[in-house]
Amino acid sequence: MAQIDLKLKERSYPIVVSKNNSSQLLRLLKKEVKKNKLFVFYDANFYALHERVLAKELAEKFQYYEIVLPSCEITKTEKELSKIYSYLLSENISRTDFILAVGGGVTTDLVGYAAATTLRGIKWGAVPTTLLGMVDASIGGKTGLNHKAGKNLIGAFWQPSFVFSNIRYLQTLPHRQIMAGFGEIVKYAGLIGNDMLTLAEKFINSNDLYNETMLHRLVILSSDYKAKIVKADERESGKRMLLNFGHTVGHAIEKSLGYGKLLHGEAVILGLSAAVNLSVISSNASSKTLSRYIKLIVVSMGYVPHKKLDGDAVLKAIKGDKKRIDSKQKFILLKRIGKPIITDSVTQTEVSESINQMLYLYKHGVNNV
Ligand SMILES: NC(=O)c1ccc[n+]([C@@H]2O[C@H](COP(=O)([O-])OP(=O)(O)OC[C@H]3O[C@@H](n4cnc5c(N)ncnc54)[C@H](O)[C@@H]3O)[C@@H](O)[C@H]2O)c1
Repeated sequence: MAQIDLKLKERSYPIVVSKNNSSQLLRLLKKEVKKNKLFVFYDANFYALHERVLAKELAEKFQYYEIVLPSCEITKTEKELSKIYSYLLSENISRTDFILAVGGGVTTDLVGYAAATTLRGIKWGAVPTTLLGMVDASIGGKTGLNHKAGKNLIGAFWQPSFVFSNIRYLQTLPHRQIMAGFGEIVKYAGLIGNDMLTLAEKFINSNDLYNETMLHRLVILSSDYKAKIVKADERESGKRMLLNFGHTVGHAIEKSLGYGKLLHGEAVILGLSAAVNLSVISSNASSKTLSRYIKLIVVSMGYVPHKKLDGDAVLKAIKGDKKRIDSKQKFILLKRIGKPIITDSVTQTEVSESINQMLYLYKHGVNNV
């Protein structure tokens, strides 16, 4: 078991990463739930696979209410949010009660937002059950939902009281979802540097994407890095932008293909390829300096399902990215592995070239590195 403390003054909280010890979750909950009610929201797929153990334990110890939410991105909508509000209010939730979100990023985003907005804010805890949820979505207090105008356009910063990651839950996660979470880990490898890069290389070359010892270590290092970034810049006005490494092109790929064709983490792997290409093309780094990292990205790209991507459509989608601050698009590039920079001094031709190189590698694979 490892504990990382995300220090945000009165909003500080622990991120506990356990190999398989739900007593740690009970310990965290007992601090928050005494005579008050515990409302637990589960992702439906997780519930079907794990409910018997977890729900039974919680129901025995707390004044327990459970709700199962449909699995998938369309759950992050006003319609589902409204059902959550109706349920909580019909059960007379009070400000002192506690909400627990158990599931992937969809569940923690939506339930976290319901917690932020019901009765002007109720305390909540996150139990991420996907790799992407453990290394990214559950940490940092960004909660929200999608709108027909775009993804994640409605939301609030509402930090949880704790995050509890149980690596054993990942054993039931589909292979593709593991790789999507690994996309964010590849991102961290570029941002953090050697230790994370070495571990990520070992993991992807091990042919065992369910190795608990390695997953445990990867989740700890990722959580620790994200916690440090969030501590430095809770509201994403500076350093937290680094976490968008690979995401400018990644988001544009998701948008240009139509949401759902690739998983978010898969699109991030392709976006990371474009970002390192751009780092080299714009003369911020040499390909020799980044060679190990480029190899990791291209090996990971081998796991991304093949989709027909149009470079011009991706470029067009970048221009509509909501993270643009003004007319200039910001890019996160690398000077070397573990040394990211935020810059807007790249030309459209350079961006276009970086996308074309990525498309070539996506099509032709690892033999071309
Ligand atoms: N808040 C943030 O900072 C942040 C950061 C990154 C991503 N996100 C959001 O996270 C969402 C994606 O999260 P995700 O990738 O976890 O997707 P998800 O929540 O849709 O989960 C992926 C799939 O895995 C299933 N699942 C969950 N746990 C399981 C388990 N243990 N065993 C078997 N199946 C399981 C789910 O039912 C679902 O089908 C997106 O909506 C994205 O916008 C938020």
